[in-house]
Amino acid sequence: MPAATVTVFGGTGFLGRRVVATLLEAGREVRVATRNPETVDAAARASRVESIAADVRDPEAVARAVQSADAIVNAVSLYVEGQGLDFESVHVDGARNIAQAAEGRPLVHVSGIGAHESSPSAYVRARARGERAVRDACSNAIILRPSVLFGPNDAFLRTLDAITRLPLIPLFGRGDTKLQPVHVDDVAMAVLHAMDDPAAAGQIFELGGAATDRYREILALVLAARGRKRWLLPVPFMLWHLLAAIAACLPSPPLTRDQVLLMRDDNVVGPDAMGFEALGIAPRNVSAVLTECLG
Ligand SMILES: NC(=O)c1ccc[n+]([C@@H]2O[C@H](COP(=O)([O-])OP(=O)(O)OC[C@H]3O[C@@H](n4cnc5c(N)ncnc54)[C@H](OP(=O)(O)O)[C@@H]3O)[C@@H](O)[C@H]2O)c1
Repeated sequence: MPAATVTVFGGTGFLGRRVVATLLEAGREVRVATRNPETVDAAARASRVESIAADVRDPEAVARAVQSADAIVNAVSLYVEGQGLDFESVHVDGARNIAQAAEGRPLVHVSGIGAHESSPSAYVRARARGERAVRDACSNAIILRPSVLFGPNDAFLRTLDAITRLPLIPLFGRGDTKLQPVHVDDVAMAVLHAMDDPAAAGQIFELGGAATDRYREILALVLAARGRKRWLLPVPFMLWHLLAAIAACLPSPPLTRDQVLLMRDDNVVGPDAMGFEALGIAPRNVSAVLTECLG
């Protein structure tokens, strides 16, 4: 039977808000667990959305947030460490707290493509350890690993849009890294389908969009959509690492070592991975909705 009430950790985030909307459209009651319940917007509160204060690092608050819920979603993220937050406490300890509190109830844990424990990126290593902690605490947890997310008001296309305003566009290396950007609403739908599908229990799904493109090809799409003509300048990764090291001295660095490392490796669905097809979803590609997303 489909879950009637779902607690969504990270329900105030880019993906989490779309998960909440998708669950509401499917007739579910939603409880958004956030550190700041007042940020859950009034429109959401007026519908079937309840908000509850919970920091995922606090096991007792997590347990309160999932009380009487039929299913749980973890769409929490932390991309840059600082201000008392680190990858280990959010992506590993926080993920474990949620998985333990789930006590066998359907749990959808959102991670990311490429999570592996030997990665040079502290962020990616923490995502992988988080997945292991979730699996150890809750063997039936469903793990979703999306590629980079796009959609209206996203961070990905908005950043590319800003970059393509520059007179000369610096590339990560030669811009050859392959990405499989995935629409945020397709991932939100995957959360719903996975939660409702008993066959998904205990499985890992890698979620990529309909098209795989190199970084420079996606930049070219944005340039064409904006009617801009620019030179693309290959910049060795070594130089990016140097820039990230310098930026690390700033209070709010515009570029981090982890972001540079993430751009070194392809971010695409593995050849043998289960994905959207197994969940009965046909994903979109960037070019189909680019103009709408750029606004
Ligand atoms: N965006 C992408 O391109 C992308 C790509 C691949 C995978 N993913 C994965 O998708 C998921 C969602 O990412 P997103 O980009 O939507 O994240 P986001 O917009 O940055 O939102 C982060 C969310 O995490 C919550 N959060 C952070 N620390 C918390 C804590 N200590 N306790 C409770 N909540 C906390 C925030 O809630 P409050 O601030 O309200 O507490 C917020 O709702 C993550 O697992 C991410 O790794 C995203």
